Amino acid sequence: MLRLSSRIAEVLRSHIVAGPGALGQLGRFIHELRPQPGKIFILTDANTHEKCLPVLLQSCQDLQPDAIWKVAAGEASKSIDTVNTLYYQLLQARAGRNDLLLNLGGGVVSDLGGFIAASYLRGIRYINIPTSLIGQADAAIGGKAAIDIGPLKNQAGFFHPPVAVLIDPIFLETLPSDHRRSGMAEIVKMILISGGALWNRIQKAGATKCCTLKPDDPFLHKLLLHAVKEKNALITRDYRERNVRKRLNFGHTVGHALESWSLKSGAPMHHGDAVAAGMACAVSLSAMKTGLPPATRDALIRFMLEGFIIPSIQPRDYDELLGIMEHDKKTVNGRYRFTLLKEIGKPVLNAECSREEVVNALNTCFL
Ligand SMILES: NC(=O)c1ccc[n+]([C@@H]2O[C@H](COP(=O)([O-])OP(=O)(O)OC[C@H]3O[C@@H](n4cnc5c(N)ncnc54)[C@H](O)[C@@H]3O)[C@@H](O)[C@H]2O)c1
Repeated sequence: MLRLSSRIAEVLRSHIVAGPGALGQLGRFIHELRPQPGKIFILTDANTHEKCLPVLLQSCQDLQPDAIWKVAAGEASKSIDTVNTLYYQLLQARAGRNDLLLNLGGGVVSDLGGFIAASYLRGIRYINIPTSLIGQADAAIGGKAAIDIGPLKNQAGFFHPPVAVLIDPIFLETLPSDHRRSGMAEIVKMILISGGALWNRIQKAGATKCCTLKPDDPFLHKLLLHAVKEKNALITRDYRERNVRKRLNFGHTVGHALESWSLKSGAPMHHGDAVAAGMACAVSLSAMKTGLPPATRDALIRFMLEGFIIPSIQPRDYDELLGIMEHDKKTVNGRYRFTLLKEIGKPVLNAECSREEVVNALNTCFL
């Protein structure tokens, strides 16, 4: 029997530029790519096609895309059907290995475009130009790309880093306020897992104010840049999510289940609202399991319930929610795996919780 082992060096060179004017760097990034891309394609959704594409084309006047594709806006586009349609569009455009895909949109477009780029011809290059707050603070960074299988979130995917990520707050100007609120949840998550003085500042400002910050508010830009730096630091240490990157799952065990459940119910929750509800459950579990002080638990649950839109969740829904969690990648031997907090800035990875404990947390947060 032949046994071989090889060490595959993981070269992760994803350039990130964030802040006002970042978009102006696109031409330089494309120019510096070796080999030079033969063709350039842009992936948008219906909203970013209308609101963001003109901004991109205006600020990069030398850019001459060979094709611009538009998918329907919303989570339903993270599907194998949309992937199939895009594969045929790439084939029709005779896209080759050296070509370049620009993903212009929120987390749905960067997840979908990343999936396409990872798999078409076994991998082509792509640049993420995130236009939503979730995209800018989180989804576009780190090379995790996935699509959903039916209502189950992110069940098929790849690690395939973008060659660059250009994060320009100019796009936030047209982002609807409910999506700004949704993005704030991922920023709050980043602050809770990383610690520092920012939690005190956002707590002092209050959840309602944080979730309604105007797109040009310098405080929003400060929070966004903090999230970008923290995410980049985590993925640089642990690209394949073997250890510290799991911190980013804080709030996502219950959050993903709620998102899938709400998709099935026909009243989809925003990703960030679902994550905020998931963080409320995770802090409740943290007080039970990892010693998070009850006063911190109460302050955090209040923050989530005040700032985000969380639908009524009843005990009759629990079986379905727990069933979805069992399908997710976060259960082991029938126990639910969570990222919890010992205190703010001190996450605890792979905390196993029983069904009773999870039900208890759901009751504490939602009844
Ligand atoms: N890969 C990752 O690491 C990662 C991390 C977090 C979230 N995600 C994924 O991201 C997705 C959620 O991201 P999202 O909230 O950005 O969703 P989204 O892409 O659906 O964007 C939200 C809405 O805002 C619109 N939009 C985006 N930018 C706009 C702009 N500038 N102006 C006007 N409208 C705009 C979109 O068309 C959409 O209707 C989920 O699928 C989630 O699983 C992935």
